[in-house]
Amino acid sequence: MIFTKKSSMKGKISIPGDKSISHRAIMFGSIAEGTTEITNFLQGADCLSTIDCFSKMGVEIENKADKVTIKGNGLHGLKAPKEMLDVGNSGTTTRLISGILAAQSFSCTLNGDESIQKRPMKRIIKPLSLMGADIKSMRGNDCAPLEIHGTTLHGIHYDSPVASAQVKSAILLAGLYAKGETSVTEPYLSRNHTELMLKCFGADISSNDTTATIKPVTRLTGQKVIVPGDISSAAYFIVAGLVVPNSEILIENVGINPTRDGIIRIVKQMGGNIELLNERTVAGEAVADIFVKSSDLKAVTISGNIIPTLIDEIPIIAILACMAEGETVIKDAAELKVKESNRIDVMVNNLSKMGADIRATDDGMIITGCKPLHGATINSNADHRIAMSFAIAGLVADGETEIVDADCVKISYPDFYNDLEYLVGA
Ligand code: S3P
Repeated sequence: MIFTKKSSMKGKISIPGDKSISHRAIMFGSIAEGTTEITNFLQGADCLSTIDCFSKMGVEIENKADKVTIKGNGLHGLKAPKEMLDVGNSGTTTRLISGILAAQSFSCTLNGDESIQKRPMKRIIKPLSLMGADIKSMRGNDCAPLEIHGTTLHGIHYDSPVASAQVKSAILLAGLYAKGETSVTEPYLSRNHTELMLKCFGADISSNDTTATIKPVTRLTGQKVIVPGDISSAAYFIVAGLVVPNSEILIENVGINPTRDGIIRIVKQMGGNIELLNERTVAGEAVADIFVKSSDLKAVTISGNIIPTLIDEIPIIAILACMAEGETVIKDAAELKVKESNRIDVMVNNLSKMGADIRATDDGMIITGCKPLHGATINSNADHRIAMSFAIAGLVADGETEIVDADCVKISYPDFYNDLEYLVGA
């Protein structure tokens, strides 16, 4: 797919549902009693993998374009799957489902694509094993495929070495079934959708600073979930509106949960023209419309506790930094190395090819902005966030930017290229 320089972007879009929230709504609805109805569910490949896994465990899930309806099996009603669970490309499915599977009365195996088979699972195997789980990496390399024999669990307190909502959620979901109380303390607070949504489903869960605590309950109750637009998907158009000249974009219905809104805070610090309009709460999550227009930007340092609140946005923030005056430093972000690709190396290699002044560090990158970018052939490494970031870079680079393996955007934003085409007026 080829992208070229644009002189303006104008228009109003509504981006698809939040990936993290969509996954959780399927999982919690499946183990709740009664009906769960999900509107604005993200029809991305990752969330479809979650539906597929729970369908294979006997949950009735009707997926229609306007609504997903789940007839929950209850906490103890999942059935042993007849075949291996296929998590596709989804780290969230793999890690969260492991917390649930560890406590079932059956055994199963799960596996996914080439990328999933390289992603670290020790981070969940270790705490779940401390809770009594019988879970092992089948190739002994701490990655998927995983073999899980459901058993009785007991609560623990876990000091997580990483700020990861996937790790935290796996432990909390296991804690939902465990004897006694389970708590997790993180170095920095990661996204808290599990805590917010599980509470709505009737779990006994609370949060205090960077610690979340859960106690078992006898049942969860199905809910109506309205999924806000995904700020991680909005991020591409936030940045496009800021860096393409003569642009004004209104992005409607975006989730701005404070554990996810780091990009908004960073854009403001960089001097970007960004406004939050019509702020409201929808189904327990903060939501707003976001208006952006072309801006002169200055560099920032991004580090510490803001990192988990923008971890998935760092690739597109790196593009933003290329258009900002001065040196942007991104640190404390070593987690980028274990995402769908090594996002430090892939960003640095591809942006260097386009003429950017960028170098990798152990835990992030350093970018000196305002060097003219030129088109290049970009390998997305089948990583959806890399493909979308370079599509936006292509709008400000001279010449042609070609993205190889561009269709991986189906993971989190199947209509991305159509929405982009609409905004550039093609
Ligand atoms: C997610 C958490 C994040 C994020 C991922 C989705 C989630 O991972 O990168 O895209 O839904 O819990 P970590 O919390 O493991 O960093």
